[in-house]
Order: sequence, then C-alpha cells, then structure tokens
Amino acid sequence: MEEKKFLWGGAISAHQCEGAYNEGGKKPATADTMLGGSLREHWASFGNPIDPSLYYPTHKAIDFYHRYKEDIALFHEMGFNALRLSIAWSRIFPNGGLDNEEPNEEGLKFYDDLFDELLRNGIEPVVTINHYETPLALYEKYGGWKSREMIGLFEKYCRVIFTRYKDKVKTWINFNEINSMMFVGCLGPAIKIGRNDPDFQQVIYQAGHYMLTAGAIATKLCHEIVPGGKIGAMLGGHKIYAYSCNPEDQLLAMLENEKQYYFIDTMMQGGYPYYARRIWETYDLKLDITEEDLKLLKENPCDYLSFSYYQSMTVSSDDTKKLAPGNMSSSAANPYLKSSEWGWQMDPTGLRIFMNELYSRYRKPLLIAENGLGAKDVLVNGTVEDDYRIDYLRDHVRAFQAAMNDGVELMGYLPWGCIDLISCSTGQISKRYGFIYVNLDDEGNGTMKRYKKKSFDWYKHVIATNGREL
Ligand code: BG6
Repeated sequence: MEEKKFLWGGAISAHQCEGAYNEGGKKPATADTMLGGSLREHWASFGNPIDPSLYYPTHKAIDFYHRYKEDIALFHEMGFNALRLSIAWSRIFPNGGLDNEEPNEEGLKFYDDLFDELLRNGIEPVVTINHYETPLALYEKYGGWKSREMIGLFEKYCRVIFTRYKDKVKTWINFNEINSMMFVGCLGPAIKIGRNDPDFQQVIYQAGHYMLTAGAIATKLCHEIVPGGKIGAMLGGHKIYAYSCNPEDQLLAMLENEKQYYFIDTMMQGGYPYYARRIWETYDLKLDITEEDLKLLKENPCDYLSFSYYQSMTVSSDDTKKLAPGNMSSSAANPYLKSSEWGWQMDPTGLRIFMNELYSRYRKPLLIAENGLGAKDVLVNGTVEDDYRIDYLRDHVRAFQAAMNDGVELMGYLPWGCIDLISCSTGQISKRYGFIYVNLDDEGNGTMKRYKKKSFDWYKHVIATNGREL
C-alpha cells in the first residue's frame, strides 16, 4: 500500500502577507481598515473609512505580492512540500461580486502564477477560501454575514476559484477558525458588534448559520468541480480543561467545549449537534434556517478537519481566579503551564489530548493548519537565535507524533507564520512567528529584506528526516 505523503510546510494568509491592497484591480477588504497599534485602536478601527494619512499594516504587509518568488525559494530550501495560504476574495471580486460583477482577471492571474510557482518548487498549495477578510463593499452593503445574500455571493466566488484552480489546488479549507465568531464578530463574519451587545448571540448565531450553509455549498461545488478535491472545516482549537474536579468547573468545561465544537460538529457531521436546540433556546434565538439549508448541510459534510492550536484554556467557576490571555479569549491561568510573551499558555501535551478528542469525535483525517510561538525576535548579525521557538515547536512536533502513535490520522503540520507577517490580534509585526525574519517594524519602516533565523535550519532538518530528528 502506498504511504500517504505527510504535509510538512507552513501557513500564511493573504491580508497578513500580500500587501498591494489596491493593486491589480483589488479593492479594500475589511482587514484593510484595521490600524496597527494598541489592541484597542486595532479593533476599534474595523470598518471605518480608510484615512490615507495613517499607517495600515495590511496595505503593504510583508509585500508577498511582489516578493513571493523569493519567499517560495526559501520555503523550498527548507524542504516544504505544502504551504497553506488564502485567496483574497476582493482580488477576485473587488466589489464582492455585487451587481453582476465579473471576476477580476488580474487577481485570478496573480494566484495562477503563485500556485504555478509553488508547484514548480514541489510545494502543494493548501488554500483557505476565506481567512478573516471580506470585500469591504459587502460589509458596506450588508454589514457582513448578517444577510442571507452573502451565501449566493460566496457561492459565486467559490465557483470561480474552483473552476479556475481545479488542476492546481486539491486541498481546500472553507472558513478560517469559524468558531472565532463566538468571541469576535469582525474577523470571520465581518460584523461590527461587541460581545456585550444584547444582540450579539442572535446576530452571531444567524451569521454562523449563513456561513455554515455557504460552507456546505462550497463542499458540494468542490466535489463537483475539482477532480479529487478535498475540503476541510477549520477550527480555532484549544484543549479545554476544567480547573478542578468541582462538578461546576467540569460543567463549564463541557459548555465551553460545546461553543468550540458547535460549528465544526455541524460541518463534519452533516447537521446541527443535539445540543444546538438548547443553546438556541437559552438565548431565545429566532433563526432563519430553511429545510433547504438543512438538506445542504446533511448532504455535504467536510472531508477532513483542519485546526489551529497554540495553547490550551482552563475554565473555572471561581471568578476570582487569575486570568491568562489567549488567542480567542482569556481563561483561568493554569498553574502548570508556562506562557509566551503575550501570555498565551503553552501546552504541547494538550495538543496530544486534543487530537485524540477530535479524532474520536469525527474519525476523519486531521490537519494542523496553524501552530507556533509569537515572540519578539532580535536580529543580530543577520540572524535570530530563536531557541525559544525551536523548543516550542519541538515539543509540539513530539506531541503530534505521540498522537499519531495513539492512532490519530494526521495529514500534515503547517506551522503558522512560517515567514514573519502581520499579527491578526494586534496588527503588529513585532509579534513574530517565522523561520524567516522580515525587516519591517510596527510603523511600517524597514527594508523588507528576509533573513534566516536559527529555526530555519532546525525545521529544514526536521523535514529532511521526516520528523525523526528533532
Ligand atoms: C489565528 C489566525 O487565530 O492565529 C491567524 O488564524 C493569526 O490569522 C494567528 O495570525 C496568530 O494570532 P496573532 O494574533 O498572534 O497573529
């Protein structure tokens, strides 16, 4: 029996890398309205008119749009056989496809060239259809995924990209970290709403339903159009622990897990999970869900599950517990874990446990689509001695290898931000994840020159030995 190729590579997204936000016929996406700076400025700026006198990190990002050949050559040197990246919807449909808009040929050609360059280098593109950016025109017209109209526009976009790239891209991901909308409205569904807004649950669960329906349509189209195509759901994943054996803590952990699994249960299992009704009743939600939507969900489950994993979360019924910040939200600080410079609690053993939980839940292949350590790197003599990053990654590789040994089917490992890029939560580049350092600062100054960090050679060796030597 032929052994399946394990995907070794990295992951990036369009708005965090490409830049050229208004070149090649592209129009702004929601992400292009977000300022860098303090957390508050970054999030508050979402959806506001673009002020040309201010610095917007995604507008030039790391200039991947113009430098991708150089970057792919470095990925190739590391031995990547896969790269996860996303398509910017507003490069393909600058106005989101409104008013019978035709696709933008220049945008389509950009990704054609990019995928060709990857394939020439022996790197398989793993493509996220929608990674935290929506054409601004759709935000302005509909307020994001608040409207059912978004489903048809997303379908139009998917049909175009599947048809165009069907011979180059076989592995697709629908929405990046779909569950993040439980915490932040503006990223996935492009909805400006605070978590304390009394309508938050109604708005988010409704938008979530439209996205789930659109995701089912994407699965259907992918299977119809892309020969041998596979499409995965994507979870922003955490191992969730109860702080103690107090049943109240255990119950909270159960409820937090439901929040985490609600969307992917629906996408992986072909319909809403049994506990959905209780959630809808708890919040007294009035959802627009049709029989046709439910049929689409039932007939089109995803082929595999991709997920990001940076940390675990610990929940406690005791509100006085010290909190630790996290990728999605804060949770009780776990006294057994160390934290990154941003306070995210590192937990490789949690990854092994989590993978076992996911696999026993779905019995479909998993893909680690993001993992990594955001740190403040210092460039000295043309390199970065990032032993801390190597330690983090080594521990996580060991953990997923242990999970594979437990019997979990894993398609590959694609650590996040394999080249430094713009941080999603802060809009800053000083939170770096890469094996490759990019000379750029948080105000947009720098030469954009690329430098290999110590982790570059480490990862190259890991890939060359297929993970045997860490
Ligand atoms: C994931 C996102 O949540 O975490 C990425 O899919 C993001 O887009 C990554 O960049 C790391 O988060 P941050 O905030 O450190 O960039």
